[in-house]
Amino acid sequence: MAHGDFDKTQDNAQPAVSNGIPPPSFPLPLPDSPDIITANLLLLIGQTPNPRLKFIYQLLVKHLHAFVKESNLSTDEWMAAIQFLTLVGQTCTPLRQEMILLSDVLGVSALVDALNNPVMGGATENSVLGPFFTEDAEDIEHGGSIASEGKGEYMYVEGRVLTTEGEPIAGAVIETWEADDNGYYDTQYADRTHPDCRGRLHTAKDGSFGYRAIVPHAYPIPGDGPIGGLLISQGRHNMRPNHLHMMAEAPGYHKLITSLYPDSCDYIASDTVFGVKKSLVVKLEQVDDDAEARKRGFPKGGSFKLLKRDIVLLTEEQSRLTRRQVVGELEASYLQTKDN
Ligand SMILES: [Fe+2]
Repeated sequence: MAHGDFDKTQDNAQPAVSNGIPPPSFPLPLPDSPDIITANLLLLIGQTPNPRLKFIYQLLVKHLHAFVKESNLSTDEWMAAIQFLTLVGQTCTPLRQEMILLSDVLGVSALVDALNNPVMGGATENSVLGPFFTEDAEDIEHGGSIASEGKGEYMYVEGRVLTTEGEPIAGAVIETWEADDNGYYDTQYADRTHPDCRGRLHTAKDGSFGYRAIVPHAYPIPGDGPIGGLLISQGRHNMRPNHLHMMAEAPGYHKLITSLYPDSCDYIASDTVFGVKKSLVVKLEQVDDDAEARKRGFPKGGSFKLLKRDIVLLTEEQSRLTRRQVVGELEASYLQTKDN
């Protein structure tokens, strides 16, 4: 399609109108080499009124143009990239976000998450939210079950929600959800009638929580779209290691979105969306004690896995200070590289 073809879909009764911004008041050399294109664009972007936006645009152009030059991108490769990105956009629906998936598999989502949620003082680290959180989880009593019978191998989850000083946080709300033995979340079943493998709990006075769940199962991210093709072209699998999602919040504390990753999964080091962090890897204890399994409420008794893990929250103030420190260090190191 030629660039001008867009006009054919418009009502051409009125003359085309510019956006009203006049040509720049400063001189721009006419390009006689590729470098002039980059230099001129950087000068034009220099007019961006919002300073943060200006900074982001300039850095993006610098890196994007450097990538094109360094890779000596061919016209065919450029067109393939345009077609790929077009397909990524076209694959998005109100229920499917292929663009976020692209960000995920390129590690960008995890990087933004890590930069925006630095931790200190032994606080629990963040992990990606993922697309399977729902608002309709049922409230679970201490020791209750988030999974219906037959969804997977028994697992008991217990711990406390604490401050960085080790003080218990009572009444913290924990949302938790996981994939079943088929590698599906409840929302992926067409005949879903109620929430399953998900629940909402409140910590007790001593900050403790405990609930019955199942050992989560590893699962693939959607492989039938352009991101699936991208991963195959890179020789990469499309699996997420098994994990238990947890979200914890309490008044005055920074909301934590995280996941715990059992260490026994083959995909743990190559999580296709880079959600795993070393501090979030957990060991599941094997408990072969029928009486104990029944005492904890597992209907068939036998054995179960035990996941013990405390959750440590930052106060809003601690979170703000930590983030300011990290952003300050990043900007300082950027300015230093610029000066050198
Ligand atoms: Fe997940």
